[in-house]
Formats: sequence, C-alpha cells, structure tokens
Amino acid sequence: MADKSNSNLDSMSFDTLAVRAGYLQSSFQENSEALFLTSSFTYKNAAEAARRFANEEPGFIYSRFTNPTVTMFQDRLAALEGTEACIATSTGMAAISSAVMGLLKQGDHIVSSQSVFGTVMPLLNQICKRFGIDTTWVDPTDLGAWRAAIRPNTRMLFCETPSNPLAEICDIAALADIAKKANAWLAIDNCLLTPALQRPIEFGADLVIHSATKYIDGQGRVLAGAVCGRKELIDQIYGFVRTAGPAISPFNAWICLKGLETLKLRVEAQSRSALALAHWLEAQPMVERVYYAGLTSHPQHALAMRQSALQGAVLSFEVKGARAEAWRVIDAVKMISITANLGDAKTTITHPATTTHARISQAERDAAGIGENLLRVAVGLEWIEDIQCDLQRGLS
Ligand SMILES: Cc1ncc(COP(=O)(O)O)c(C=O)c1O
Repeated sequence: MADKSNSNLDSMSFDTLAVRAGYLQSSFQENSEALFLTSSFTYKNAAEAARRFANEEPGFIYSRFTNPTVTMFQDRLAALEGTEACIATSTGMAAISSAVMGLLKQGDHIVSSQSVFGTVMPLLNQICKRFGIDTTWVDPTDLGAWRAAIRPNTRMLFCETPSNPLAEICDIAALADIAKKANAWLAIDNCLLTPALQRPIEFGADLVIHSATKYIDGQGRVLAGAVCGRKELIDQIYGFVRTAGPAISPFNAWICLKGLETLKLRVEAQSRSALALAHWLEAQPMVERVYYAGLTSHPQHALAMRQSALQGAVLSFEVKGARAEAWRVIDAVKMISITANLGDAKTTITHPATTTHARISQAERDAAGIGENLLRVAVGLEWIEDIQCDLQRGLS
C-alpha cells in the first residue's frame, strides 16, 4: 500500500487534512479510500507470517488490531486532533472503557465531571469499581472541587466540554494544569464539538475521546469510537483493544473516515442553526431556560468562546411545568426525530431524564441538574425555520 497522504501534512490546513490525511492507496490506484472488509490478511509464505506476528516487519495481520481502512481513519482523526496517534474502537463507550482499562490499574483513582454521558456513571461506579478503580465526581465548572478531589493515587481527570445535555464548560487549560501537578492524565470527551471546532490538545489535554457515532459519522448510521493522544499512551490503549477486543469494524471505520471529509462543513452549519434556535427558544413564553454556551446569557460564555468560536449543535431547554409539559413538546413534533441519538443530519429531540439519563439514580440526576422539564435538541441540517415551526406546535 502506498501512503498518498502527502509528506508535507504539517503545513496543511484542517480542511485539507480532513480529505487527505492518512490516505493509503492500493495497487489499484483508487481515488476514494478503499473499504478493506476482510477479517484477516494473507502472507507469501510461513516466514513472512512469522515476521509479521513477531512485529519484525510492518503489515496487516488480523482486523481486530490491524486493518488498512481502520488505519486510515485513525491517522486522519489524529491529524485533525493534532495528536501523534489514535486508536479506534467499536463505540464511544468502548473508547472510554479502553482508555481507563488500558492506562489504569487496581488502586488508581479517577476524578470525573459529574456532567458526563449517563452511561459513564455505571461504567466507573460499578464496573471499574469492581476492578479496584475509584471515582470521585465533581461539578465540572468548580476548579476548587477538582483540586480538592485529587488524591495521591489519582491518575486520570475526565470530562466532556461542553457537557451533554446542559452545556457546562470545563476550563481545559486549568484542568490540564491540575492534572499535570497531580501526575495524572487529562482526558476530554470531544464528542460535541469535534476537532473541527475545538482541539483539546492545544489547551494541554493528554487524551481526546470520541463517540464517532455522533458528528464524525454525521448521518446516524454506525457506532464507533476513538481515543487520540501521544503515541506512548495510545500504544498502551492499543494493547488493551488488541487483547480484549472492542475493535471497530472496517465498514464503520470507512463510514467515519469519509464522514471526516465533510465534518467541518456540517458542524459549522449545524452550530449556526443551533445558535439561531437558542435565540428563538429564549424568546418563547413557554420556555423557562435555554442551555447553550453560544448565548451571551450562558454563565461561561466567555470561557466557551475562548475554547471554540462556535458551540456545536446540541442545546437543551426547560419548559415551564414538569414532565407532562416536556413530553407534550416531543409528542407534538411531526418532522424532528424522537430519538436519543445526536450528531445526525436529522434534528433529534429527547427527554434526558427518561432516556439518556434514565439508568442513573434520582440523586445522581439531581446532582447533574437533569430535571423532568428538560428537553435536549441536537440540531441537524434542515432549514432552521422548519425546525422552529415543528417545535412551535408543542410550545404554544
Ligand atoms: C458525549 C458522549 N460521549 C460518549 C457517548 C457514548 O458513545 P457510544 O454511544 O458511541 O458508545 C455518548 C453517546 O451518546 C455521548 O453523547
């Protein structure tokens, strides 16, 4: 396979890297990156097989840990995040689990934002706890709480910024400083903004985690995940993925690879529509409060704008009333998709308390600020007035 990604990638812009970085061309000289839908690779003879297995020569072996389509996706995403390396996984949750299981050991401690994707809580509180890894949950916006939670055995700080669904912003540079002093790694879930809008490595993060299921695919087709970072860290996570097996399918990697080509165009357009929708929602009498960091009314607007000029396509709002009033808005939509996924070209709406955050306890929901009157919208690529019109019905 020939590396056609060009040697002078360092000097190229994000837009160019998104369509060119990582490109490997086969002997057929295809222009669009090939999908290598194969579980294994063959060898010319027994000696070549032995050399490949002994890591004495480069080459592909078995798609649980080496596949050219997966390699192209990993290399392109690493180029966009500005990291040395990337390991792709089957889902975003597999990416988070693999980062923890690949880097931490029994007796280690994690400090995590309490405003993370709901499933991260049972992962850390129940599963990782069984393996002797403890977690302390903190308010993501309270730097004093992060500092106070650090223990001598703290090895990882974890957060999403902006958070889903309440758009709380973590100060990445300040957290990187806290992590460094504690001799711990800072891992940022960059799912909501993607490298097209925010590059956590530039603020000092050690690891950038993705649910590629969301904006990287961008059209709601496949599940995928990835962890980006320094080679020495990604090598350790690779060791876990290769052995434990949460590997990405080459087909899903191909979808995500091609998704990266249009990522910036999509997330910028979706972010602009989300900002317009946030302003519109703020003016609706039935709306109690809008959570979107692009609004000047957001308490961390200035910090958010320092980290990214656009604030992504996910916004939440509280309707006046309780669960019944929130459900009325959902049940009145005719176009918007009622689904808990986000990052799709189609606008989606969900009631976090009974969907994405249903598996955590009421106390955990209260601590995370997920009320019964809260709705989350992930703005797609439809015309903004059509989205407003669909929401208007349930808000009248
Ligand atoms: C911010 C964030 N991180 C991680 C995940 C988990 O990703 P996946 O569903 O691909 O496992 C999600 C899923 O919604 C998410 O929203």
